[in-house]
Amino acid sequence: MAILTRDCAGVNAAIRAAVRTAAPAGLEVLGVLRGYEGLIDGDFVPLDRRSVSGIINAGGTILKTARCERFFTAGGQASSVKNIKARGIDGLLVIGGNGSLAGAHVLASSHGVKVIGIPATIDNDLSGVDITIGADTAVNVALDALDKIRDTATSLERIFVVEVMGRNCGSIAMQVALAGGCEEVLLPEQDFDPAAVCREIRNGHARGKVSWIIITAEGRARAQDVAAVVTRDTGLETRIAVLGHIQRGGRPTAIDRILAARLGHAAVEALIEGKSDVCVHYKDGQIEFLPLEIAIRPKACPVADDYHLLKVLA
Ligand code: F6P
Repeated sequence: MAILTRDCAGVNAAIRAAVRTAAPAGLEVLGVLRGYEGLIDGDFVPLDRRSVSGIINAGGTILKTARCERFFTAGGQASSVKNIKARGIDGLLVIGGNGSLAGAHVLASSHGVKVIGIPATIDNDLSGVDITIGADTAVNVALDALDKIRDTATSLERIFVVEVMGRNCGSIAMQVALAGGCEEVLLPEQDFDPAAVCREIRNGHARGKVSWIIITAEGRARAQDVAAVVTRDTGLETRIAVLGHIQRGGRPTAIDRILAARLGHAAVEALIEGKSDVCVHYKDGQIEFLPLEIAIRPKACPVADDYHLLKVLA
């Protein structure tokens, strides 16, 4: 079998779990270097119990990764399938988010490759999947940064706009805003009325409120644009912080490591049982499988209740 990955905290723990489940079952394991680029170029490394020691707490992916447009061409897929056959790979684990699992679905459904997907993305945007590997670490990394920003926001009585990752899904933004006690959150799932946000700040300021933290998901509005509108409308000093890729790295939390252990182990068992074109996930305390075709659909995130809670507590 082979393992192909994207990067986020907990991916290495999933590789470790998969390799250490495969070894006693007599399966040889190859790691695919640089994601789908390595599959197309035939770039593989052998993985054994020893090669995955000491990685459970490491961020990123030991296999390296890449965004790969070539895979979505006929030539890219033909090369991938040729390499899979040439190396005698009888099953592939794909650990990643939407794009990676879309590629996994193509390999399984159009080329007959046996593939199991393991959901790993900070965005937590896979349909039917409650929680992806990497999401908990990302929220905690962002929260740690936010707590530091709050020190300055409070000391200098300033407004801060903090931009977190999330193109189509406001999962990180909402969780960070709730856990960080923020006044406002702008989400891809909700319209944002700049005039209403500014009116609320002006009203609060008139009552003596002096600092605000607004979280924005990158997919809803850029921090610099929000800050410009707020400063122009309220005349109050505003600063921004764009957290960016620090959210994708770092030591995985216990939650991510344990999720990775469960899913990496279950994915190998599923390959051995002959399952394919499915994504393994953890729901209501147990391992479940759902078709990859469903997991890669846009996730519908109900945000109204959490947003209401945030505004009540702000
Ligand atoms: O999908 C994970 C993610 O980190 C998104 O939150 C973000 O929009 C995107 O990837 C950034 O991609 P890249 O690392 O290619 O710039």
